[in-house]
Amino acid sequence: MEDIKTSVKKITKNSKIAVLCGGLSNEREVSLRSGKNVFKALIDKGYKDVTLIDVDRDIAKTLKEANIEYAVNVLHGRYGEDGCIQGVLEFLGIDYSGCNVKSSAICMDKIMTKKVLSTVGIPLINSVNVNKDNYKEEVKKLNFPLIIKPANEGSSIGMTKVNKIEELDNAMKVALECDKEILIEEYLTGESATVGVLERKTEDGSIETFATPILGFKTKTEWYDYEAKYTKGLTEFILPANFDKELTEKIQNLAILAHKTCGCSGVSRVDFLVSNNIPYILEINTNPGMTDTSDLPAQANEMGINYNELVELILKSAEIK
Ligand SMILES: Nc1ncnc2c1ncn2[C@@H]1O[C@H](COP(=O)(O)OP(=O)(O)O)[C@@H](O)[C@H]1O
Ligand SMILES: [Mg+2]
Repeated sequence: MEDIKTSVKKITKNSKIAVLCGGLSNEREVSLRSGKNVFKALIDKGYKDVTLIDVDRDIAKTLKEANIEYAVNVLHGRYGEDGCIQGVLEFLGIDYSGCNVKSSAICMDKIMTKKVLSTVGIPLINSVNVNKDNYKEEVKKLNFPLIIKPANEGSSIGMTKVNKIEELDNAMKVALECDKEILIEEYLTGESATVGVLERKTEDGSIETFATPILGFKTKTEWYDYEAKYTKGLTEFILPANFDKELTEKIQNLAILAHKTCGCSGVSRVDFLVSNNIPYILEINTNPGMTDTSDLPAQANEMGINYNELVELILKSAEIK
């Protein structure tokens, strides 16, 4: 039986570090782009033994053979952001950045996230959790228009706005192609925004959790759908978002509360819809994108943390889990 690590973890410039990217999900391409940037940042920061790994089903063997000590997890979606790779790393005794098994699994699932967040009084949009058999009955509890979301997806994939009951069957069909569990929410008009949450160790050894400035979106499409997210010019980014001081602080504090309530660590990005001055939490992203145009690097930069510093902060979160 090998010893379970109990000593205080300390990453050095000579530590064996793996940057995990790519993977098996449909967000693989974005993750590969993020991974290359993160790898370069660690080299720029003077880390001498960094390996960029495109994760496949042999990942456990690859990590073991390379004697990896720390992993920076830049995977998105299934297997990378849902607790699976985190479990592999735990099993191998490799310390890793970001969220642990439990918080990753909770936050991958929008239904589960809302269940957990509802315990601490965070504003949440009225919704029902449905499947193919009960949606016709459950939907009667809500007011139109609605938005139909697969529980375990991202990038607005499988999501449809439904204005009247006649449109529901079709929207459900689209969502059910992605997932068995579907979240139906009332559709609210408002402003979309997102907040990064980061952690660092203070001098006395305690952990400080802090929020980045808020990034606001204005889209030319009706809502922030897949087209708006990935077509250049359809979305205007406002950083920092145009909320007054009081609302800004409220949103940032809610982001930190949501991060902590779901048991997140190291890094997350919390999405909001602000309607009638109420900041509703939509979801928590536990492995935010790290490409040149991703939200979190821009948010960190706005508060004086450049890309390389952000990557180092995320790496160091492997010490504090
Ligand atoms: N209930 C809602 N009412 C209006 N717009 C919404 C609602 N839910 C989501 N949206 C819009 O859709 C976008 C994506 O939703 P989100 O829940 O964050 O899922 P994803 O995982 O696809 O990012 C949000 O940024 C917001 O603009
Ligand atoms: Mg989102």
